Amino acid sequence: MPLPTEAQGPGKFKAKPRFNPQRSVQENIRINAAWDSIRRIDLDPVHLEQHRIIGHLAQSEALAFDMMRTRLLQHMRDQGWRRVAITSPTAQCGKSTVALNLALSLQREPETRTVLLDMDLRRPSLGQMMGASGDCDLGPFLTGEARFDESAVRVGENLAVAANRKPVADAAKLIGGSYLPLSLRALEDTYAPDLMIFDTPPMLLTHDVMTLAKHVDCVLLVAGAEVTTPKQIDQCERDLAGQTQMLGVILNKCRHHGPGYGYGTYD
Ligand SMILES: Nc1ncnc2c1ncn2[C@@H]1O[C@H](COP(=O)(O)OP(=O)(O)OP(=O)(O)O)[C@@H](O)[C@H]1O
Ligand SMILES: [Mg+2]
Repeated sequence: MPLPTEAQGPGKFKAKPRFNPQRSVQENIRINAAWDSIRRIDLDPVHLEQHRIIGHLAQSEALAFDMMRTRLLQHMRDQGWRRVAITSPTAQCGKSTVALNLALSLQREPETRTVLLDMDLRRPSLGQMMGASGDCDLGPFLTGEARFDESAVRVGENLAVAANRKPVADAAKLIGGSYLPLSLRALEDTYAPDLMIFDTPPMLLTHDVMTLAKHVDCVLLVAGAEVTTPKQIDQCERDLAGQTQMLGVILNKCRHHGPGYGYGTYD
């Protein structure tokens, strides 16, 4: 059962201040205030479960995502990377499910601030998946018509999610436009997230991912078991080479798995 949000008053939902010793006091105060300004919502665990979202559970079900989180964080920190796109060769391999599960697993890391962006502008699904489709709207932020705190919602203290209510018009133009890198940079400057996850469309079906590739540090490829072919994975790797780094491939929807959740990874 979701808790009422605004009815409880803003004070109840202030993000816990966090002080990074590498930043000045003023910087810390500014960043804490920025996170505070994002409206917090509570997610309905029943709705999440119906959509195969388990990353918020500090239980063994979420172990695969927790392991993915640990490896991802470690690698990205080592490399000084912050932006990761999640894609797949074709549709329905589980990109959005993986992206949201991973983000919720990261949310349980109190020291880490994460931003999840629904960059599948043509077929957004994250809002619906998390049961908050009416609450956030990334499109206006990407076009400069709204601030990020008007476009996103906060889950807990340290996860901001900006999904889309509806498909965004002129997706290709927006993704390829000169405003996008500026808005992403502004987002990083204001909120100083440790990680930004981009949920994206299928790579082999639109040009959007190739256009986005130059704005991210690395890509995680989700392969659908018994659907994605090695040839498609090769094709994606070849296309991305020189544009960004391939972090790894996640094999999703495995039928033969242990007590985990049907995910396997290899680098
Ligand atoms: N590990 C899994 N096992 C079984 N079903 C799964 C798994 N992961 C995702 N699914 C289901 O597969 C469907 C597609 O998932 P999802 O929307 O995450 O894929 P997608 O790659 O983002 O799709 P699209 O290309 O349309 O954006 C959903 O019904 C989802 O619940
Ligand atoms: Mg999707």
